[in-house]
Amino acid sequence: MLKNLLEKQIPIDYEKEIIRLKEEMNAVILAHYYQTGDIQELADFIGDSLELARKAKESMADVIIFCGVHFMAETAKILNPEKLVLLPDLEAGCSLADSCPAEPFSEFRNRYPDHLVLSYINCSAEIKALSDIIVTSSNAEKIVRQIPVDQPIIFAPDKNLGKYIMKKTGREMVLWDGSCIVHETFNERKIEELLYLNPKAKLIAHPECEDHLLEKAYFIGSTSALLKFVQTDDSPEYIVATEPGIIYQMEKAVPEKKFIPAPGEDESCSCNNCPYMKLNTIEKLYNCMVTRSPEITMPEVIRVKALRPLEKMLEMS
Ligand code: 13P
Ligand code: SF4
Repeated sequence: MLKNLLEKQIPIDYEKEIIRLKEEMNAVILAHYYQTGDIQELADFIGDSLELARKAKESMADVIIFCGVHFMAETAKILNPEKLVLLPDLEAGCSLADSCPAEPFSEFRNRYPDHLVLSYINCSAEIKALSDIIVTSSNAEKIVRQIPVDQPIIFAPDKNLGKYIMKKTGREMVLWDGSCIVHETFNERKIEELLYLNPKAKLIAHPECEDHLLEKAYFIGSTSALLKFVQTDDSPEYIVATEPGIIYQMEKAVPEKKFIPAPGEDESCSCNNCPYMKLNTIEKLYNCMVTRSPEITMPEVIRVKALRPLEKMLEMS
């Protein structure tokens, strides 16, 4: 069908076709806030990592189309082995997940045999399979507080989120040295300049940012928490230190407010955009529905091992 349409050079009305195909396939489109606005508009549900995992688990659809990155779609597959899980671009990875390969992590973990392994959901299925509990930016603090104080903990892969949780809970944790290229790009001096030039603005940040920036933030939270905050807080302006895709929903929710994306190191680049998230496009979304690919797959032995810590997370959050 795709081939025929292309051959005849008939322009495709992607929005209309995606809605039609969704019905035909009994599919659900889940999207993260870092997706482009056109994709967010077509999604059945937009959320942070925890909300998306929950939605994937409770979905009645036959097909889950995940507009996000690989570890998110993989999480949906771990929770729904019988469903077809599609990711519009299989190259949509994550620098944080890439910073924690399975083999060195397994060796690292073996050095601390009495430690409980808490892994941030931004990791591969292999890392999940080596973990005891998965956490997200919205439940990490709550989960750490439920662990007995005499139980030592390894926290992987994000050292910035790990440090933030250590500070909030007063718990020492052994940290894996991983981070996100997007959240480490923000330039503190330029943000200070922006705060000076926009005296009514508050800095709000995702906990994947470095600690020197988090110290300056008025509010810290997951993407969903940041979105909720701007709707309940009384400030008219915000400097948003996370991927700017979230601003699409912020502007929709409170159009009278001003949102300034936190700048990266280099003014000429858009390095505060997640290059992986932005690989998904409306055209690729349409193509993946037509071809029912690329599909997320993994060895069953890994899936079963990765399911345990994910279920533990859903139980504890
Ligand atoms: P959230 O769970 O806060 O949406 O974060 C996901 C993510 O990848 C942030 O970079
Ligand atoms: Fe991964 Fe960072 Fe992109 Fe989030 S913003 S998906 S942590 S690379």
